[in-house]
Amino acid sequence: MVLSDTSIQPDYDRKAELIAFDETKSGVKGLVNSGVTEVPRIFRLSSPENLTSQQPQPTLPTIDLERINEDPIRRKEVIRQVKDAFESWGFFQMVNHGMPVNVLEEMLKGVRDFHEQDTEVKKQWYKRDLSGKTRFVYLSNFDISATHVANWRDSCYCFMAPNSPQPHELPPVCRDILLEYSKQVTKLVVCLFELMSEALGLDPNHLFDMGCAAGLSVVGQYYPSCPQPELTAGTRDHTDNDFITILLQDLIGGLKIFYQNQWIDVPPIPGALVVNAGDYLQLITNDKFVSSKHKVVANKVGPRVSVASFFTTGMMDTSKVYEPIAELLSEDNPAKYRGTAPKEYTAYYGGKGLSPLLHFKI
Ligand code: OGA
Ligand code: NI
Repeated sequence: MVLSDTSIQPDYDRKAELIAFDETKSGVKGLVNSGVTEVPRIFRLSSPENLTSQQPQPTLPTIDLERINEDPIRRKEVIRQVKDAFESWGFFQMVNHGMPVNVLEEMLKGVRDFHEQDTEVKKQWYKRDLSGKTRFVYLSNFDISATHVANWRDSCYCFMAPNSPQPHELPPVCRDILLEYSKQVTKLVVCLFELMSEALGLDPNHLFDMGCAAGLSVVGQYYPSCPQPELTAGTRDHTDNDFITILLQDLIGGLKIFYQNQWIDVPPIPGALVVNAGDYLQLITNDKFVSSKHKVVANKVGPRVSVASFFTTGMMDTSKVYEPIAELLSEDNPAKYRGTAPKEYTAYYGGKGLSPLLHFKI
């Protein structure tokens, strides 16, 4: 997470409160279950969030992928739309993407069921290790020690690729759907990488062949209802540290993108998926495709559930180096970044207050 909230030193023993919260191993949901009516101070923003949306707003593009493999004219048009969206917004919504509605619904249900199962069973999965060695990790606030404000959110991290987990490494409540969803979302991303490669004027297999689809972490986010939503954040503003994220959100809403100096709502569309470029994509495209800041506001209504599929090997142990794609560079457009290993990048991610990309600028 890239932080923007740099509040002054707290006048209480924040560390002790963070440890006490962590040791409950029952996350924000545990607090809500225990009946909290006020947001504890470890979650408080330095200034309240404005929860009203400014109107009118520009509308995030929705791209219809229907028949792109049968109709070359439509495919060309869609490639143009993908290019425009990644160049200006870094985000778009997709419909008719080929993932069946029942798979989307079951995935949301699987994440919800995981977070709502018996606390004692859930606690067994609580672990502060995102190296990928443990294939399924449940925790709240992975960056808790580095940040000034904890998110009103619990998460489960499922490391699905490279190397598929063994079924017994995944919790029974969401095991089957996780495997099925991962298979389908990977098929979809391969198709997207083809469109994106073409949008960049490259061979259709270029991004796939670079390994952009090789690593997949599926993260099930659970945002419990919040008694004082203006005082905290569901997910603070950040950019994603991956190549691309495919996000499935339920119908509650709250996701916002920073675009043209204002926060724009990403309205839930039944059956749609949200796509966004991550920092590595911005790096390898030499800033042609942008990794935009986004956040999720807290809400009295909840729980809100979302499933983010992060395509990257960044959290796993890899020393492969990524750099701006040579074919995109010229005398007028020299490389803006030096070669960067995802592992090195990850070291700059979290708690630094700036986009880690800046660190790798030439
Ligand atoms: C994320 C993220 C958005 C959401 O997990 O990086 O931006 O809707 N999630 O949960
Ligand atoms: Ni994100």
